[in-house]
Amino acid sequence: MSETVKIIYGDQTIELPVIIGSEGEKAVDITQLRNKTGFITYDPGFANTGSCKSAITFMDGEKGILRYRGIPVEQLAEHSSFRETAYLLVHDKLPSLRELNRFSILLNDHSLVHEDMRQFYETFPRASHPMGLLSSMVNALRSFYPELRIDEEEIDMTVTRLLSKVRTLAAMSFKISRGHKVVYPRPDLSYCANFLNMMFDTPVRPYLVDNDLVRALDVFWILHADHEQNCSTSAVRLVGSARTNLYASISAGIAALWGPLHGGANQAVIEMLTQVHRNGETVKRLVERAKDKNDPFRLMGFGHRVYKTYDPRALIMKGVCDKVLDRLKIDDPLLDLAKQLEAVALEDDYFVSHNLYPNVDFYSGIILRAIGIPTNMFTVMFAIGRLPGWIAQWKESMDDPEWRIGRPRQVYTGPRLRDYTPIDDR
Ligand code: SDX
Repeated sequence: MSETVKIIYGDQTIELPVIIGSEGEKAVDITQLRNKTGFITYDPGFANTGSCKSAITFMDGEKGILRYRGIPVEQLAEHSSFRETAYLLVHDKLPSLRELNRFSILLNDHSLVHEDMRQFYETFPRASHPMGLLSSMVNALRSFYPELRIDEEEIDMTVTRLLSKVRTLAAMSFKISRGHKVVYPRPDLSYCANFLNMMFDTPVRPYLVDNDLVRALDVFWILHADHEQNCSTSAVRLVGSARTNLYASISAGIAALWGPLHGGANQAVIEMLTQVHRNGETVKRLVERAKDKNDPFRLMGFGHRVYKTYDPRALIMKGVCDKVLDRLKIDDPLLDLAKQLEAVALEDDYFVSHNLYPNVDFYSGIILRAIGIPTNMFTVMFAIGRLPGWIAQWKESMDDPEWRIGRPRQVYTGPRLRDYTPIDDR
């Protein structure tokens, strides 16, 4: 017998069905609430509200669990590649060798962007933020690839095209912002190696692909690949719910990710650590400021809406930090500072009582710095990693028979009925 919940209001009692997810998560189905009671629900930030059913990513915030299509992110970070994980998220299965090879060939074949797009970059101010450029350029792709039927074949082509071109668009913005020659993708390099080569190869100093750094970037992108209904994914789904095309929906997701409370936090963490290192502020002082309600300062890279324990991605990221810095023989004072900050915060009653732990952004910037990625491109790196997740979620919503255009309600708190006052009487 299916479970229900009872709502009693005055002499009214209604029963609402309970939905139970495959991991035992329970939800009250309120689709009939307003029809039956005239009531709506109120949940700013949707902290208690499920927007959809999804079979893509499972998170348990209390236990620090993250799985893509049922596979623990720790196993994917250990054994998989970003290409393979992207395929898993989008197609709901790990590819066979033949499927992976075909996917790699398609990624290579679609890695170029239309030459006319280079002029777009030239029209932006040189100091434009790379996230603004990326959001604009992904939206502009629609002008070059207008055909987007929702059938499987076309969607697959569009998905692969976007996954491949996003690297080229990001590297182009870096090169053009510095007045450097744009480097084209190469057929002999893997997904991650191609990106690094497009970023750092120059006519006078050929980029030497370092497989340890390529692996670090692979893991970095695997860890960012999806995270259920976070802010930017919800933006992609909401824009897509109006049957907006994939490019514009993804462009909206990039814009949402840009915020410093979301993906922009990786840039904010490094700026915070750099400032502390430069002005000699102690980590203890930083933690005190983060607790002070009169101080708008927040400890960037700490806290999470869902994780009430250590973010499993941050744990893996911390290990990659040590490996990369060790490999490059870099002694980054910001890593030591980050570890000190973590140690002090995790001992502090406020942080413990508020379940504030390092999240994915706390250590990720240290890796990117070591690889040579400029700070203002850190969130672009997050966006490239999150792209397969956004695409998978967009596709899932398009195929969802229960999916409707997103249109939340509100609780109105404005003025009651009043008449218009002619200007002479005001
Ligand atoms: C990402 O959702 C996802 O899955 C996102 C993400 C993904 O992969 O898509 O994981 C990526 O966005 C990670 C988060 C990156 N953002 C930051 O690191 C910015 C710093 N953290 C926060 O601002 C905050 O923790 C959020 C935004 C991440 C979560 O905010 P919530 O869930 O809305 O929590 P809240 O702001 O209501 O805070 C609850 C309490 C408050 O104290 P009280 O008023 O209850 O006493 O915790 C405090 C907050 O003041 N708090 C912090 C804090 N984060 C929360 N205090 C100091 N420093 C912090 N970082």
